[in-house]
Amino acid sequence: MNTNKKMRAIGLKQYGSLDGFAPIELSLPEPRKGEVRVRVHASAINPADYKVALGELKFVHARNFPMILGYDFSGVIEALGEGSEWNIGDAVFGFLPYAPSNARGAFAEALIAKTNEITLKPTGVSHIQAAVAATPALTALQAIRDIGKLPHSGGRVLVTGISGGVGSTAIGVILKLQAVPVGVGSGRGIELAKKLGATKVIDRQHQDVFKSSEGNFDVIFDAAAAYRWSQWKASLRSGGKYVTTFPSVPLFLDKLKSLIATTGVGFVGVKSRQADLQLLGKWLESGLTISIDSTFAVRDVAKGIEKLHRGDILGRVAVDVINGF
Ligand SMILES: NC(=O)c1ccc[n+]([C@@H]2O[C@H](COP(=O)([O-])OP(=O)(O)OC[C@H]3O[C@@H](n4cnc5c(N)ncnc54)[C@H](OP(=O)(O)O)[C@@H]3O)[C@@H](O)[C@H]2O)c1
Repeated sequence: MNTNKKMRAIGLKQYGSLDGFAPIELSLPEPRKGEVRVRVHASAINPADYKVALGELKFVHARNFPMILGYDFSGVIEALGEGSEWNIGDAVFGFLPYAPSNARGAFAEALIAKTNEITLKPTGVSHIQAAVAATPALTALQAIRDIGKLPHSGGRVLVTGISGGVGSTAIGVILKLQAVPVGVGSGRGIELAKKLGATKVIDRQHQDVFKSSEGNFDVIFDAAAAYRWSQWKASLRSGGKYVTTFPSVPLFLDKLKSLIATTGVGFVGVKSRQADLQLLGKWLESGLTISIDSTFAVRDVAKGIEKLHRGDILGRVAVDVINGF
């Protein structure tokens, strides 16, 4: 059904620069079977936004222009596709797929989400808190629990990139998984990681990270994707695993070498699994806090993307969509 209704969005006209984001008007999308339309209240910025905009990671988003970026979202369902079990008015959150099929960015007044890629937002949690949590918490959870195969409780996990969105969020996720977090980071991230519950934090700019960690980790989660398994393998217990967030040729080579080693190598490619989002909703309700660096109105999303790209952040960069056009 074409209602001729319009929505506002922030679109990108071409790859190659972070200057190209501009307000645009588009037809309001109609949900099909297995989909809902969400009125977006809040979103968040991820490195994928600038990597896609700069043309470095084209494959994680549909390649049609104007391109609407933005993956994380929290909002309210306003239209249902055929047979949907959701209700209009349900407050939900999640993230859009990091996949070539994704033409549904969250830097827009409304988006289409799959019914099995959302979950209810807990009432006591703000749309901003839910939106900033989605990608980094599920990335950490899937990296540490599923790829890293963390034992049920009491394991030791080392996490890098603690000033950033994934690394800072991972500390709370590790604690929720009943494990002991040790951080690797720099600058203001060191105090943040301690505040979030890291039992030990290694200053990567002033300490030898490989010698200072005391080793015997069940999982080394390289959220920053700044290291290699070959550098960390002596710090893993036998059967432990190094997990990174970025696929690369060195990762592939390390994976081959690890076939004859007692420790493993893995890569996390985050998936929007409803059961994991439900678990995250419970954790947010029971006190998992996500550190927010700053919040930008969606009309200024380019400034937030530039800030994240500069690395000038401590935690997550949130986007106010509902009040931000
Ligand atoms: N595969 C997936 O499913 C998935 C999902 C989400 C994100 N990612 C990727 O994961 C990475 C981290 O995401 P994010 O949102 O946390 O990014 P971010 O917010 O930009 O944080 C990155 C952090 O990495 C650390 N870092 C930067 N340069 C470093 C270096 N040379 N050596 C060591 N650490 C360095 C910094 O923290 P310190 O200064 O404290 O070390 C920085 O804050 C990005 O590459 C992103 O694209 C992948």
